[in-house]
Amino acid sequence: MRAILEEAAAALRAGRLVAFPTETVYGLGADARSDAAVARIFEAKGRPADHPLIVHLPSADAAEGWARALTQEARALLAAFAPGPLTVIVQKRDDVPAAVTGGQPTVGLRVPDHPVALGLLEAFGDGVAAPSANRFGSVSPTTAAHVALELGDRVELILDGGACRVGVESTIVDVSRGAPRILRPGGVTREAIEECLGVPVPLAQDPSVRVPGSLASHYAPRAEVRAVARRDVEAEVRAAAGRRVVVLGPEVEGAAHLPLPEEPSAQAARLYAALREVDARGFEVAIVALPEPRGLGLAIADRLRRAAAPRG
Ligand code: TXA
Ligand code: MG
Repeated sequence: MRAILEEAAAALRAGRLVAFPTETVYGLGADARSDAAVARIFEAKGRPADHPLIVHLPSADAAEGWARALTQEARALLAAFAPGPLTVIVQKRDDVPAAVTGGQPTVGLRVPDHPVALGLLEAFGDGVAAPSANRFGSVSPTTAAHVALELGDRVELILDGGACRVGVESTIVDVSRGAPRILRPGGVTREAIEECLGVPVPLAQDPSVRVPGSLASHYAPRAEVRAVARRDVEAEVRAAAGRRVVVLGPEVEGAAHLPLPEEPSAQAARLYAALREVDARGFEVAIVALPEPRGLGLAIADRLRRAAAPRG
């Protein structure tokens, strides 16, 4: 492992792209201090260049090298959830490349909780900019095989750390100005963030903040996704009669069935692989029940709604 991590760190230093596992989803990493290396990420993903990237760090202490000032809230969140599935948005230092921040005065920082990610970050010794390792708009990868399918010929190296434990992306909390807000629900629950900060933390709906994950149609497979209340699943199956329909979760007469665990953390861990399987098996319509929007269910419901949103 040591040797492969050194090789990966050397590739990053040479300005190349390295895909790596985290506890949430696989990331597509580049040297965050290099405009040219970061530009390769956008090219490989097919993502608009003004979208900001998260900088991954080996420890919470390393945040000082990227943040202009860490607010009390930023410190509390990092102390509680780094390493972990959390990203804090803070005011950036002047020397943070604009390519990383999409020209915004803030930067997103995260310490992933995965031995391979941490090993890579320690071997590299500085920040690694990394979006999820998928083509823009598609489902995030939770195995090395998913990355290879989408980006295999566009990256120098794919580190294989097995299937991601959490399975949905990090929770993004903006503590850069004013009261803290959640820009994207994710692996750390809103309840845990509120308990840490001791105040209610609303979900942001400010459309002026550029968060690709907040575009309506995102995290989407090719198949049409219908995310509905549990009690409406059977009616939805009847409405889609005549098409190749699959239900994720319960078995329903008149549709194929792809198992999806009920328990929220198990469901999150399986969700993206299940959406990929819908396409791999050639289904036209995938019907799935929305979970209760609390705990990890909030992030799952958010991703399902985006997968189900009208396509542009
Ligand atoms: O779990 C994760 O966060 C994964 C793994 C690889 O760490 N990464 C990830 O990156 O999901 P990405 O690029 O797919 O999504 C990051 C989100 C984007 O929606 C981006 O706009 C937002 O974070 N973001 C990054 N920096 C920001 C900033 N300064 N202000 C507002 N949003 C920001
Ligand atoms: Mg993404």
